Amino acid sequence: MRFIIMDTPKEIGETIAKDFEELLKKKPDAIFGLATGSTPLPLYAALIEDYKAGKISFKDAKSFNLDEYVNAPKEEDTYRYFMKTNLFEHVDFKEGANHFPSFENMKTYDKSIDEAGGIDLQILGIGRDGHVGFNEPDTPFDSLTHLAELTENTREANARFFKGGEETPHEAITMGLKTIYKARHIILIASDLTKVDAIRSLKKGVKDLAWPCTSLLTHPNVDIYLTKELFAAI
Ligand code: GLP
Repeated sequence: MRFIIMDTPKEIGETIAKDFEELLKKKPDAIFGLATGSTPLPLYAALIEDYKAGKISFKDAKSFNLDEYVNAPKEEDTYRYFMKTNLFEHVDFKEGANHFPSFENMKTYDKSIDEAGGIDLQILGIGRDGHVGFNEPDTPFDSLTHLAELTENTREANARFFKGGEETPHEAITMGLKTIYKARHIILIASDLTKVDAIRSLKKGVKDLAWPCTSLLTHPNVDIYLTKELFAAI
């Protein structure tokens, strides 16, 4: 696990966009695992810039998103909509190339990823409680895509995206910790101070079910990008 410290979230986004560029050069039909939340937004902005500058194309690539709410109050609240407006509608993925887990496909989502060739590059944010995707504390490390109940801590953190907060969904479908672990290269980004305890659990280096992110500790190819502000607080 490599820790990479940068000055700003923008610099983190631009640096990871270069990994996308390199991968797409070597493998135009690469498979990306993508994440939602505010943390990957500078990365998506950098990818859009690179696409507009003609540096990258997603025309032969595919994506599998990490998670999706169950019973989001409005279409605009879904992660599919988030990805559409923050990345997909600005770049050239082909129709049908972007996949999301759902109640209907959750039992076959892992198989679909495997059949597509497996994820080459998985992007992750992290929850305050160390969740990745919506794998909350005590999720088994060998879990595949499944229905997850959100903790109150996570609902509270995500309430800012929903009117009034009480509409925040209680459940989501998420890739499991094993689904994520199967990716060939994992990049986890943390850029705000609410993530200090979660990143501390990674620095400690002990696998612990109470901190789902620690499932990544034994993975051979993980980069953790942190802002210097967050790193200083650990
Ligand atoms: C949600 C998502 C996670 C994400 C987390 C952090 O819970 N399911 O994938 O990492 O939020 O979000 P943010 O980046 O906005 O802090």
